[in-house]
Amino acid sequence: MRVSTTLPDRTAVVTIPAEGHARRVAALRETIHRIIDTVIDAGKFHHGPQTERLEDALSHAWGGHAVATTSCTQALVLALEAAGTRPGDEVIVPAATFAATAFAVASVGAVPVIVDVTEPTLTLCPKAMEAAVTERTRAVIPVHLHGHMADMPTINQVASRHGLTVIEDCAQAPGASLNGRAVGTWGDYGCFSFWVGKNMGGLDDAGAILTTTADRAARLRRLTDMGRDRTDRHLHHVPGHRARLGEVNAGILTTQLGLLPSWTERRNTIARRYTAAFADLPLETPMVQDGHVHAFYKYALGCEDIAALTDHLANAGIEAERVYPYLLPDLTAFQGITHRTHVTEQSHAATRRLCLPAYPELTDAEVDHVIGTVTAFYSGS
Ligand SMILES: Cc1ncc(COP(=O)(O)O)c(C=O)c1O
Repeated sequence: MRVSTTLPDRTAVVTIPAEGHARRVAALRETIHRIIDTVIDAGKFHHGPQTERLEDALSHAWGGHAVATTSCTQALVLALEAAGTRPGDEVIVPAATFAATAFAVASVGAVPVIVDVTEPTLTLCPKAMEAAVTERTRAVIPVHLHGHMADMPTINQVASRHGLTVIEDCAQAPGASLNGRAVGTWGDYGCFSFWVGKNMGGLDDAGAILTTTADRAARLRRLTDMGRDRTDRHLHHVPGHRARLGEVNAGILTTQLGLLPSWTERRNTIARRYTAAFADLPLETPMVQDGHVHAFYKYALGCEDIAALTDHLANAGIEAERVYPYLLPDLTAFQGITHRTHVTEQSHAATRRLCLPAYPELTDAEVDHVIGTVTAFYSGS
């Protein structure tokens, strides 16, 4: 194995960025312009026909009842509120996730209880979850890290034994499924991020929630609009939020929902190529468990030489990122947040992941270049 002894050339031009959304937005430029024109012509900027179409399309494609909102962070807050989470309640979250999962819990006054993840998916460990349950536990938020679903059948069993609400954090997993059942339809609530950089995304921040009944959806929709319903805008029935999605993003997302299956297939094709090419290298390639469709938001390699490999890739114009280098309890933000942790060495594998570019907009030649560069690192050529 080769160890890089030279510093990376920081002036090296990135030709293959870590994320592909700038390419995606550019490719959809004309469609986006058309959607903007349609919205301007309609003169309705929220809760109009685009939002209605998006919610119908999401329910049709994935199941459940969909409510559009402004981000996954907001979706998590709304789901926690709709589930009746009260200050002092405890909500179990995994140690390896984007901070928003736990920030949402803290922002409704509840206590994030941070527990281990388990290999190979690095998602919430059902055993650790059960061990963390107390009489104050209200809910659990499994995160479908990197696009592979958590063990939802077992998590649901544990949750139902203890009367917990299950709120899936699907930010990284639109397009994933288990045994043909879509991500976000396994729990009581499924919260999605449609931030521009996700597998499907608006022009900036966007999100949605799937839930199980029309009543729950109506309650959530009211929460997105200052506690009002659509009949009298001066009547606020419950304390609510400013969290309704704009019509332009809704139109863009409906278009992308139709493209998502082919994008997911392309992500999987690239992932299969990487995995086959790296079979003999000292790397842990991501696994797709039986019955799962992986959304491959990230192609996350287990790797002992992260810094040297990152530098080697950078010198070849390839941007690779470490996701996530820190577990939640290691972040200083949590010193200012009431929380509990049950995190052991078991979760540390999650911090040793290097993510290679693997988005649908990569050309085959770029995929070859990534493969050749990684392979050369280990052959020393
Ligand atoms: C696992 C996870 N949860 C929550 C979020 C928050 O999503 P948003 O940026 O839409 O608020 C993200 C986004 O990056 C995420 O990756």
